[in-house]
Amino acid sequence: MEKYINKIINGNCVEIMKQLEEDFIDLTVTSPPYDNLRIYKGFVFPFEDIAKQLFRITKPGGIVVWIVNDATIKGSETGTSFKQALFFKSCGFNLHDTMIFQKTNPIPQIYRKRYNGIFEYMFIFSKGSVATHNPIMIDCLHAGLKLNGTTYKNYSKGEQKRGKPAKPVKKQKIKGNIWEYVVGKKAEDQEAKGHPAPFPCALARDHINSWTNEGDVVLDPMSGSGTTCISALKLNRKYIGIDISNEYCEIAKNRIANYEKQPNLFKVIPNGTK
Ligand SMILES: C[S@@+](CC[C@H](N)C(=O)[O-])C[C@H]1O[C@@H](n2cnc3c(N)ncnc32)[C@H](O)[C@@H]1O
Repeated sequence: MEKYINKIINGNCVEIMKQLEEDFIDLTVTSPPYDNLRIYKGFVFPFEDIAKQLFRITKPGGIVVWIVNDATIKGSETGTSFKQALFFKSCGFNLHDTMIFQKTNPIPQIYRKRYNGIFEYMFIFSKGSVATHNPIMIDCLHAGLKLNGTTYKNYSKGEQKRGKPAKPVKKQKIKGNIWEYVVGKKAEDQEAKGHPAPFPCALARDHINSWTNEGDVVLDPMSGSGTTCISALKLNRKYIGIDISNEYCEIAKNRIANYEKQPNLFKVIPNGTK
């Protein structure tokens, strides 16, 4: 399998994934073409075959992060994202979490009697129970605050009781499952220019840090400009990137080559940095 490690491979991901051993990948972070919302440089998208292959090659305890959105056609959202999530479940994955990627700079929309769409889904699928979770921590707003006590009502008895005093509020807690990022503005994201729909490096980084450890294998079977792959490399993980477009593979390879020439320019970025 070594020949696939740290490579950007041009091809149909189903055919390339078939060549990978089963139970081989620790984490996949990917976003498929959404309901033909964007024009890519020619592709086929056999969704069901992709999902089946992902299940086969994911290690027990491994994770697939599937970032997706729906088109609105004739006044209705397609619901493709949910259909895909349910298909992943039918392949054997757990739907471990449904997370939200919220954009701080969403594309303004023409008003069509609905609120501006500012998020995408990040479905987290696990093969069995999750092997690795390094949760991102955030500061508690009321850190150190001592509460006098907790009251609760026993509705069946209709009585109000005072419980034992609660502990002071902790300094930190696990981050929530709505993650917010600016899209396309950071220098590291501008390197993806030439691809119509890259996701932010910070998003890839947060998932890689959360679900893997150093040395683990991270896959993006529709890697586009290589955001997942370069983020994995910078975090000392192994990567495999696949894209059907040779032009996008070249963008990804150039991004990686530029980093490899001057890796010291890259500062270590802590978990959860937007
Ligand atoms: C939403 S884009 C991914 C962008 C990527 N996350 C990034 O940050 O640049 C989807 C990609 O899927 C690729 N694609 C579509 N069908 C494919 C297939 N069957 N095999 C491999 N890649 C495919 C397209 O060429 C496109 O680059």
